[in-house]
Order: sequence, then C-alpha cells, then structure tokens
Amino acid sequence: MIATEGISLQYGKRVLFDNVNIKFTGRNCYGIIGANGAGKTTFLKILSGEISPNSGRVNIEPGKRMAILKQDHFEYDEFPVLDTVIMGHSKLWSIMKEKEALYAKEDFSEEDGNKVSDLEGEFAEMDGWNAESDAAVLLSGLHIEEDLHSKLMKDLNGHQKVRVLLAQALFGNPDVLILDEPTNDLDIHTITWLENYLLDFKNTVIIVSHDRHFLDTVCTYVADIDFSSIKLFRGNYTFWYESSKLALHQRSTSNKKAEEKKKELREFIARFSANASKSRQATSRRKLLDKISIDEIQPSSRKYPAIIFNQSRPAGDQILELKSLSKEQNGKSMFKNIDLFVNKGDKIAFLSKDSLAITTLFQVLVGEQEASSGTFKFGQTITNAYLPNENESYFKTDDTLIDWLRQYSDKEKDEVYIRGFLGKMLFSGQESLKQTNVLSGGRRF
Ligand SMILES: Nc1ncnc2c1ncn2[C@@H]1O[C@H](COP(=O)(O)OP(=O)(O)OP(=O)(O)O)[C@@H](O)[C@H]1O
Ligand SMILES: [Mg+2]
Repeated sequence: MIATEGISLQYGKRVLFDNVNIKFTGRNCYGIIGANGAGKTTFLKILSGEISPNSGRVNIEPGKRMAILKQDHFEYDEFPVLDTVIMGHSKLWSIMKEKEALYAKEDFSEEDGNKVSDLEGEFAEMDGWNAESDAAVLLSGLHIEEDLHSKLMKDLNGHQKVRVLLAQALFGNPDVLILDEPTNDLDIHTITWLENYLLDFKNTVIIVSHDRHFLDTVCTYVADIDFSSIKLFRGNYTFWYESSKLALHQRSTSNKKAEEKKKELREFIARFSANASKSRQATSRRKLLDKISIDEIQPSSRKYPAIIFNQSRPAGDQILELKSLSKEQNGKSMFKNIDLFVNKGDKIAFLSKDSLAITTLFQVLVGEQEASSGTFKFGQTITNAYLPNENESYFKTDDTLIDWLRQYSDKEKDEVYIRGFLGKMLFSGQESLKQTNVLSGGRRF
C-alpha cells in the first residue's frame, strides 16, 4: 500500500497540488489522467521520491518495494543489457556486487567469510539464483533476443532500449509498479504483451497514459488530476468518461426528477457492467462496477479540444495510389514493392514491427524523402497535411503561438481567426501570446 498525506506543491504562482490525500492499494491498477500540464508526471515523481513536495508526505508500507519505468534512455548506456534489467531490483543488485567484490579479494579474512555467508543468505532469500534466468525470460518476452543480452545498452536502438527499461521496471515482481506513459514508444505487439502482463500482475500498478484503449484494458480505478486535487473513481477510463458526461448532462436538465436521474444512472451502470463482463479482466472489474453507488458518479468539468476537419472542397475518386513503392536506407530495405489504392473515405492504420519503416513511408509520401523505386500519386484535387512523430524542428523559433500558427493558414491570416482556432485546441487568450518554444510536450503535439 502506498498513500499520500496532505501533499501540496506549487511552482511559482501555479498550485499543482493542494492537500492531496490518496491511497493506492492491493491488486488494483490506477490510471492517472488529466490535461497536459495538470501535473501527472510531477505526481509520479513525488510518489517515487524524486521530487519533494512543499508539504505533506508519501507513506509506503514497510518492507515494500517500488519500481519505476525510467524515461532517461541514456542512464544505463555503459551497462550490459541483462545487468540493466537486474538493477531494477536495487537491493538484490547491490548484494550481488558486494559478494563479487568480497570473493575477488586476495586477503580474504574470516570476517569477510562471515559477511559473505550473510550476503549469500539474503541473496538466496531474494531468489537471487534465478535472477539471471528471470531477467532473460522477461527480455525474451519483450523480443530482446538472447544475442543482445550481453551487449551494452548503448549498442541498442531506441526501441530496444525502451523494452529493456520496461523489463527493468517489471523485474523482481515489485510491490508497487509506477509507469509514466509506458506505451508511447512501444509497438503494438509489445503493448499487447504489456497489457497481458499487467492483467496477470498481482500487486499495485500506477500508470499515467493518454492511451484510452490501454487504460480501458488494464485499469480498475481512474485518478483524475484537476483543480489541484486528485479524485479517485472506480472503473476504467470509458466508464469514468461516460458516467461523468451523463452526470454533467443530468445537472443541466433540471426538469428531470431526482428519482428519474437515479434510475438513468442505475441503468447506465447495469449496461456497462454487462459489457465489462465480456473482457478478460471481467471478474474483478465486474465486482467493482457492481459495487459502485450512484453517488460516486460525478460530473466532470474537463474540456476537450474540438478537432474538426472541414474539407475545402469535396474530394474526387482518385485519392492516392502507390505502385511498387520501395525505399532503401543505408543498405537496408525499409519497405519493398508496396501497392496500395486508397479509396474515398478510407481510414488506414499502418502497422509494423519497425516504426522507422512507417515514418520513412510517410516522409516519402509528403516529399521529405525520395523513394528508391516505384511511384505514388495523389489525386488532382487532393491536399494533404502531415503530423510528424518528431516535432522538435517546428519549434525552433521564439514566435508567439499566433504568429507561429499563422504561417500554416493558407487564406485567413486574421488574428481573430487564428485565435479562434487556438481556442478550439484549448489555448486561451493569454496563452496564445506565449512563445511556442516553451510549450510542454503534450501541448506541442
Ligand atoms: N521544475 C519545474 N519548475 C517550474 N514548473 C514546472 C517544473 N516542472 C514542471 N513544471 C510545470 O508543472 C506543470 C505540470 O507538469 P507535468 O510534467 O507534471 O505535467 P503532465 O500532467 O505530466 O503533462 P503531460 O500530459 O504534457 O505529460 C506544467 O505546467 C509544467 O510546466
Ligand atoms: Mg507527463
């Protein structure tokens, strides 16, 4: 069990947390949600002790171990892959190192002998003899094949490193597992693997994620950060979203009687738990939903950006056609002989074990790179827009948001129009005068 006691934190004038008391217990999986900049990452850092709050404290049950998915992809560069995973259990790792140092001593004394035998005892108790094989099993589950286990971290590519760091967090069955946006850099196969891992995991999990499907699959609770506080709701993300929307709607329809509203909410819960019973997590989630009382359901004041695509003119039948499109990069084939005809109204998801291959394909289609062979052609009337994976290069300017966005507006350059557009994405009046290069990651996106 891990709990916060009266946590408050303020950066300058901005109060991120004001007297937050929250408990995370048992086999539950908590999804931390909140707008970009609400303080999700900061809250996880407070839990893990990386940041001290202005007041209040974090209590973790004595003897319980916490593990965190590290975001710093370079920290372990000089260590072998297998060691990096075992380091996730820092106590076990330090015992291993201490033992090694003692055995390597030339003037091994009786005192050293006693010390070593103590360490061996502790080591065995922690199941140390299985550490290497456990770590190897985890890595293989994450498709880090055995020939990579003895390589140094710096010799791995970014996507492999992320998976090793994930194995590090999961290693040794921690009592509390903390993950900040774990699915961001993972391919779809690894996300599925992680979902199954978390569904079978017997201890407490706390996750920040913007991935709705992932949250729905694994979470038993939603913790919403808003107005400097954190509110806990039973159920998964969709349950929180739909029920709080319904509650908000009910509040605005004051002509309905209280009894009618209760009935509506009760029916909503019944419908939802019927659907939830079909999922893999059925038993525990169903139990949760059956226990929910209607008083727990509260309206949410969360605002969502309005993303509306208006076509400047209706598209013709010719959208896009690829003919034997191929690309080689540094002697390696990224994709080969792609034939594709895109029909009007199609929405196409591209999947690959190698996300670089997809990025390369998109870069070819928007003209940032040349294909090695083959052709592609957009229809005459088609205009396209591209949201890249890496957006760093767009923000190397100290323009205000208004000036920055104006350069992408074809016809309307008027400030009122641009402000209106920013408003739809929840950038308020003051914020549209902010410099673009100080925006947080989520807001840049
Ligand atoms: N060291 C700091 N000094 C001042 N302000 C900070 C500091 N660290 C974070 N902030 C601010 O605190 C707020 C919360 O940041 P945090 O990274 O926790 O947000 P988040 O909810 O994780 O957002 P996102 O969804 O974009 O990841 C932001 O407005 C951020 O600019
Ligand atoms: Mg964050």
